[in-house]
Amino acid sequence: MRIAMIGGGYVGLVSGACFAEFGVEVAVVEADAAKLAALRAGRMPIYEPGLEQLVADNVAAGRLSFGDDLAAAVAEAEAVFIAVGTPTRRGDGHADLSYVYAAVEQVARALRGPAVIVTKSTVPVGTGRRIAELVRQVRPELDFDVASNPEFLREGNAIGDFMRPDRVVIGCESPRAQEVLRRLYRPLNLIEVPIVFTAIETAELIKYAANAFLAMKVTFINEMADLCERVGADVHDVARGIGLDGRIGRKFLHPGPGFGGSCFPKDTLALMRIAQEAGAPSRLVEAVVAVNDARKAGMAARIVAACGGSVRGRTVAVLGLTFKPETDDMRDSPALPIVARLVEDGAQVRAFDPAGMEQARPLLPHGVTYCHDALDAAAGADALVVVTEWNEFRALAPARLRTAMRGSVLVDLRNVYDPVAMTQAGFSYHAIGRAR
Ligand code: UGA
Repeated sequence: MRIAMIGGGYVGLVSGACFAEFGVEVAVVEADAAKLAALRAGRMPIYEPGLEQLVADNVAAGRLSFGDDLAAAVAEAEAVFIAVGTPTRRGDGHADLSYVYAAVEQVARALRGPAVIVTKSTVPVGTGRRIAELVRQVRPELDFDVASNPEFLREGNAIGDFMRPDRVVIGCESPRAQEVLRRLYRPLNLIEVPIVFTAIETAELIKYAANAFLAMKVTFINEMADLCERVGADVHDVARGIGLDGRIGRKFLHPGPGFGGSCFPKDTLALMRIAQEAGAPSRLVEAVVAVNDARKAGMAARIVAACGGSVRGRTVAVLGLTFKPETDDMRDSPALPIVARLVEDGAQVRAFDPAGMEQARPLLPHGVTYCHDALDAAAGADALVVVTEWNEFRALAPARLRTAMRGSVLVDLRNVYDPVAMTQAGFSYHAIGRAR
């Protein structure tokens, strides 16, 4: 079986490599010359554990290839996946679909035989139908189907999520498209992964609804954390106490500085717009967007308060810059408004992140000092702030951290440390949603 993957970005690259691992012949088409050269040389443009090896193995096995010749890749393909970017459009919060439509038009011109055109990018409800119309306009005689196959990959765990998903969602309306996609995902039958077939609009909405629901869970527990601080409760016990109810579930109830990344902020905003325009506005989703934005913007104030009301002339060590661990992605990371505000308020910021330093540099204000490791960042600092819960920060010995620093303020925005151990080590320890 042969497929083409249009777009060698996060989704295209991970999905392409994983389909190849399933035994499918995958041609990944990447238009960006620098990215393509890197991929061909075996260098990954993104940080994703296990990806480099998976790509190398499948390239060596002859199942995975990278190129810029869309027509050649598409010609013999049974399915063509559209995995190009859908950034938030400036001004109105909608997803920008210009890359999607441009790719579809080229695909329509290049197809030879019958094929299924599948969207993997997250696209607004109704896009599948518009893609079908566009293809019919460009090639009225072409025999094709359209399908929506949203992905639910988490950065940092993307390969595991693809190979052992909770479910696969496929929106399509012809038996032929169903058959092609069923065949493509056949290896997952062995581990009994449910495949949910739906209408195209439904599959498109499932993706947004899933992300918005998870974002809502995170936002809910963040609000409960604020309440815990006021009433002397512990948010982790609250999360456990509610999460053990199978109807609620324990996951995505970890409080923090607000959600970021390339998906939740973009998708909640897009769903909010979609719902408004459809005449069925979601006040819950609107609240999630507003509450989370305010949370991220207000996080620095907590740090300032922990430092006694001012950070002017103080040195603040920031551990973790990426929006979550195991990625180098800085998109919408809570670290961005936090560091910006600290610098604006006159602090000297010493930052360290295990993977995101290069990505962070152009996004953070001048004057930030980039350090070799966590202890280097802590050296001489008045306060230390954990923004991202990388495992290596969990493993730091409290006494060593404390000795490296000048001051004793520790603001743990991810609750990675044991409050008792930290207080015993001499820290003035501030967590999220935990009575001190
Ligand atoms: C998310 C979804 O989890 C994936 O299922 C989905 O496929 C993906 O978006 C996407 O649409 O492409 P991702 O953005 O990689 O994946 O990251 P998550 O692990 O979901 O975390 C999102 C944000 O929520 C992070 O900022 C994280 O720190 C925050 N979070 C998550 C919390 O603050 N607490 C939690 O308990 C969980």
